[in-house]
Amino acid sequence: MAEAREHWSGSLGFVLAAAGSAIGLGNIWKFPYIAGENGGGAFVLIYLICIAIIGLPVMLCEISLGRRTQRNPVGAFKMLSPVRSHLANFIGFSMVFTGIALMFFQEFGWAIVMLLIGGLIIKFGWTVAGILGVVSAFVILSYYSVIGGWTIGYILKAISGHLNYTTETAAAKCFKDFMLNLNWVIPLHFGFMLLCALIILRGVRNGIEKWSKILMPMLFVLLIVLILRGLTLPGAIKGVRFFLSPKMEVINAETVLIALGHAFFTLSLAMGAMITYGSYISREQNLFMSTISIVVLDTTIAILAGLAIFPAVFAMGFKESSGAGLVFNVLPAVFNSIPGGLGWLWATLFFLLLSIAAITSGMSLLEVVVAFLVDELKWKRTKAVVISSTVIALLGVVSAVSFASWDRLEILHIALVKAFHINQGSFFDTMDVLTSNWMLPIGGLTISIFVGWIWGTRKAVEEIRHGSHNFADVHLISLIAGLKDDPSHNNSRYHVLTLASLWGIFIRFITPVAVTIAFLHQIGWLNFK
Ligand code: PFF
Repeated sequence: MAEAREHWSGSLGFVLAAAGSAIGLGNIWKFPYIAGENGGGAFVLIYLICIAIIGLPVMLCEISLGRRTQRNPVGAFKMLSPVRSHLANFIGFSMVFTGIALMFFQEFGWAIVMLLIGGLIIKFGWTVAGILGVVSAFVILSYYSVIGGWTIGYILKAISGHLNYTTETAAAKCFKDFMLNLNWVIPLHFGFMLLCALIILRGVRNGIEKWSKILMPMLFVLLIVLILRGLTLPGAIKGVRFFLSPKMEVINAETVLIALGHAFFTLSLAMGAMITYGSYISREQNLFMSTISIVVLDTTIAILAGLAIFPAVFAMGFKESSGAGLVFNVLPAVFNSIPGGLGWLWATLFFLLLSIAAITSGMSLLEVVVAFLVDELKWKRTKAVVISSTVIALLGVVSAVSFASWDRLEILHIALVKAFHINQGSFFDTMDVLTSNWMLPIGGLTISIFVGWIWGTRKAVEEIRHGSHNFADVHLISLIAGLKDDPSHNNSRYHVLTLASLWGIFIRFITPVAVTIAFLHQIGWLNFK
């Protein structure tokens, strides 16, 4: 007999674990610099809107899919898919025909991808959406873990006093040397994977939940300490102004798309992570409240991270426009310039914060793959964890090596150029583009169409109602006005404008249209410039 499925001990356990998945490198490394580069406060505002109208509804979809089916993403789609779906067949056949057409244009790599996915869709229907989620989690973890390894390496460097430079040039050189030194980077990447694997091995309650309850409060305290340090430096206010004051002139359609893309990544959507974590929720929990809490926590931490970074950067007279390299190239020098000689301490705390954020996200990605192997292939958890983390770690080595140079991966490079005409950046960049620009939008689109039109909002809301009845069905105006429990406002049968109905409209219309536009723009078929 199969073992009974584990469940979170309660709402708090779930919310902290899911927030742990959501809060990651995306919040602390990526959000501050993309906000800084794309209009500061104006970007933050647009981002908040994207989170509220796209991120939150999609997260609720995923969590309810998980709880309803009590399965991994593949099992969830399989269980709820109709026997025959015309829409799925239409998409499958269209892809196959596109694949054949691409052959004539000698685009063999893309042609094979189209034929393969199209064929899978014709055979397995909507279940392919779940497979896509598991594959995305697998691929993302392989390179996420390389960066996770860097963060651990930087804690070691900081503690041992090896980050003691005060100029950006020195800091950048140190980072470059470190990143290219495979004797460091590969063991650290393995170390990061090992930490994730050890936690996942212990299961849902004793592994993920227990560690989220320890690590998330730690993350919060570290962040507050760093904010206080940064904000109390003379001149810090310039950094706050840079980060939060709206610069309308840099806002354009592209900004909105960047915000939308980031909303998916930062909330861990479209990779099956929230479906998987949702599958460990029991029936009594209020899904609306939990989803809102996760989203609010994720957004708050992203904004706090900006407040931990920019005030210090500005107060110490560094350039803000350092883009992706900000965290590793600039911050160590910033910390060391702070008078008082405690630069090593601030750097240690910062990279510890970054590692914690990365680990709680990394483990959720691993759990997606493990849950699939356990549910669908009936593997024992230990076997699933050992094998999946080893294979992911090996794939990650390719990303790690590719930073150094393509020369070491000659055959792979030639294959990628020949098949896909991809000749820019490293294998790492290729993986990042493939997942962020392609797999995530397609995943998000599929989930919203599936829940909105195939499984149907009616059934989804039935699921959401368990545990959140007097939330989902209360008249929105009464809810906002604080009259939710007033007897004369509480007869849900006559209410039309409820959270549930609003959510349904978003999921059926607004999300699919918005994501499709963003996707077409990303792949260059639409241009707003
Ligand atoms: N949300 C994480 C971050 O912001 O860094 C990244 C991530 C984790 C994406 C887990 C997806 C996922 F399943």
